[in-house]
Amino acid sequence: MTNPTKDRVVIFDTTLRDGEQSPGATMTHEEKLEIAQLLDEMGVDIIEAGFPIASEGDFRAVSEIAKNAKDATICGLARANFKDIDRCWEAVKHARSPRIHTFIGTSPLHRAIPNLDMDQMAERIHETVTHARNLCDNVQWSPMDATRTEWDYLCRVVEIAIRAGATTINIPDTVGYTAPEESASLIRRLIETVPGADEVVFATHCHNDLGLATANALAAVAGGARQIECTINGLGERAGNTALEEVVMALKVRGDIMPYETGIDTRKIMHISRRVAAVSGFPVQFNKAIVGKNAFAHESGIHQDGMLKNAETFEIMRPEDVGLAATSLVMGKHSGRAALRAKLKDLGYELADNQLGDVFVRFKDLADRKKEVYDDDLIALVNAGLDAESDRLQIKHLRVVCGTEGPQQATLTMLIDGEEKSTEATGDGPVDATFNAVKALFPHEARLQLYQVAAVTEGTDAQATVSVRMEEAGRIVTGQSADTDTVVASARAYVHALNRLLVRRERAGGDTREVSYKDVS
Ligand code: KIV
Ligand code: ZN
Repeated sequence: MTNPTKDRVVIFDTTLRDGEQSPGATMTHEEKLEIAQLLDEMGVDIIEAGFPIASEGDFRAVSEIAKNAKDATICGLARANFKDIDRCWEAVKHARSPRIHTFIGTSPLHRAIPNLDMDQMAERIHETVTHARNLCDNVQWSPMDATRTEWDYLCRVVEIAIRAGATTINIPDTVGYTAPEESASLIRRLIETVPGADEVVFATHCHNDLGLATANALAAVAGGARQIECTINGLGERAGNTALEEVVMALKVRGDIMPYETGIDTRKIMHISRRVAAVSGFPVQFNKAIVGKNAFAHESGIHQDGMLKNAETFEIMRPEDVGLAATSLVMGKHSGRAALRAKLKDLGYELADNQLGDVFVRFKDLADRKKEVYDDDLIALVNAGLDAESDRLQIKHLRVVCGTEGPQQATLTMLIDGEEKSTEATGDGPVDATFNAVKALFPHEARLQLYQVAAVTEGTDAQATVSVRMEEAGRIVTGQSADTDTVVASARAYVHALNRLLVRRERAGGDTREVSYKDVS
């Protein structure tokens, strides 16, 4: 229900565009559809689903998200040329509520790249926004690097975009350069001085290079912006974008001094945060605000004492407000599939029968090996890359010999395109030996860019979740797995990434980005 005393702030999520375009965060088609559905269900007003001209894969994803969307407006990104804008429209037009987002870099540095002077750029803005508006009633325009653009020139081009029919004007802090006071003043100045400003919505789009993205976005709202652009977990290039969970919870918790509301169901925050971390391969830092593992943990004795007496002593939000249930003991090893399905549903996961079957087998296996299985263990099982029967590479058997005197030795058997192959390899540590064995059985050029291990729960029998990121000829893929044996989890995560790489190779052309939004047309 809307509150008449509060202004509504529109939440524009760009996890699938600005977030996913950051190197290494690439998601599969199915993962993009899943995240879009979760964003829609949590009440995001506008989903920026991708950059349709970038590749066939981006185009397909934006079109399908547009077709599936229930409540959210679906937006696609386009540079300032007719070809990009037409392609964007072809993808978003299927949505119940479509939006075209077109942009051009307006700062002196960005104007120099296409070699346009101020007048020529103004003309380009007029033509392209007019063209977009002839296709779609809902057009967003962004002067990229707005915060390093001369303010007088910015006022001039914003006016041109409004006259040409833009309905939302987004002010990007592309390189995370601004600071809160400036962020508020810039929006205020535009609203107060540009003719027609009261006819459009002003948006803020901040990057986190100085750690100010949330503060700058909230300051922009104080200055009059009514749309915040953000991503789940702050995913995005370099230091990322404004984190959705941070701005939404800040507005909710401090409604007394920031009288604005959003349409977000905050209880869905934890689940989508975990899914985005899992599919993007970008784990959330432990002390990350709102969604970090430690965000609601009270370790120190003084805190615990206070918490037991009254939770509000050290807590400004309740864990359940963000969808974090107190971690509880799950069913034992005698629990059946129906109980597992119900438990997973409680945790936000609705799995297809074949996926449930796979998780059930792993759950039974885990319950046999681990004394206590918690919610977090189950979440790790589901978020780990699920093996598919169609996977070309499958691990059959792994044995690793470790000891104080190296080298460590791995004996590995894999099914490769249905054929069983075995080898032995040594390495500098058990994980290195295992990865060398995989390479010996399935030679590849892909380079390991990231290898990360985290314990899911406490105790020496805890599961380890392992994430790996690999790169081959510009294609970046991630793989995840979880197991009580760190080496087994590592091997599975590595093979998971390789399987994804093989899918990407097969689809080459379809999924490989030919264009980035930084390539000026
Ligand atoms: O940061 C930025 O400037 C962008 C634009 C494309 C809006 O992401
Ligand atoms: Zn951006």
